[in-house]
Amino acid sequence: VATTPGGPDNRMVPAAALPPVAVRPATIDDLDGLIDLLWSVAAEGRWIGIEVPFDRAARRTRLADALARDDATILVAEAAPPDREAEVVGNVAIVIAPYGVADLSMLLDRAWRGRGLGTALLDAGLAWAHSSGAHKVALEVWPHNEAALALYRRAGFVEEGRRRRHYRRANGELWDAVLMGRALS
Ligand SMILES: CC(C)(COP(=O)(O)OP(=O)(O)OC[C@H]1O[C@@H](n2cnc3c(N)ncnc32)[C@H](O)[C@@H]1OP(=O)(O)O)[C@@H](O)C(=O)NCCC(=O)NCCS
Repeated sequence: VATTPGGPDNRMVPAAALPPVAVRPATIDDLDGLIDLLWSVAAEGRWIGIEVPFDRAARRTRLADALARDDATILVAEAAPPDREAEVVGNVAIVIAPYGVADLSMLLDRAWRGRGLGTALLDAGLAWAHSSGAHKVALEVWPHNEAALALYRRAGFVEEGRRRRHYRRANGELWDAVLMGRALS
């Protein structure tokens, strides 16, 4: 059963059968695919901070650096549809600051949203942050990103503040960002 884009609200019509999806740590072999995925979500222009065009080589270096560190990780969601090669359809990236707060960012390919994968990725990211010694997870989200806000609230994040007219977009607009945090017990 095919999925159908659900319009500009970021929600997809759920498919009847979700192929098996695994969450695992990224490897160097995933980097080019992760950059393609980042590019496609950035090109949507409304969900994440980074905009296109960005410097692919510089971003690749940053991702490789994250893979080499103990205080950072990238976890990928890999789907294995029948009769097709497994493909990376999303990721969560976490960096733990020296003072113990894990900064988290995540994204999914458009066709895979609204089907519970975000919850699975976030749960894995929270578990990694906890087992790596962080006492708290923090993130920023655009106020219009209702899917992300719902996901984070459901996972126990609370709103801690708002940066007002803080981020200048390529089109000159100044966007607010909601600051969210969740303690790790
Ligand atoms: C944000 C994102 C990671 C969420 O992942 P997801 O797989 O779509 O979310 P899930 O299917 O796990 O759903 C999580 C919750 O959000 C809700 N939700 C999903 N899409 C929604 C939408 N468009 N509007 C409102 N709520 C929505 C779900 O109903 C669910 O809540 P519930 O369990 O109480 O019903 C994903 O949509 C995405 O990658 N978006 C583009 C990139 C992005 O926004 N990244 C985050 C930047 S801060």
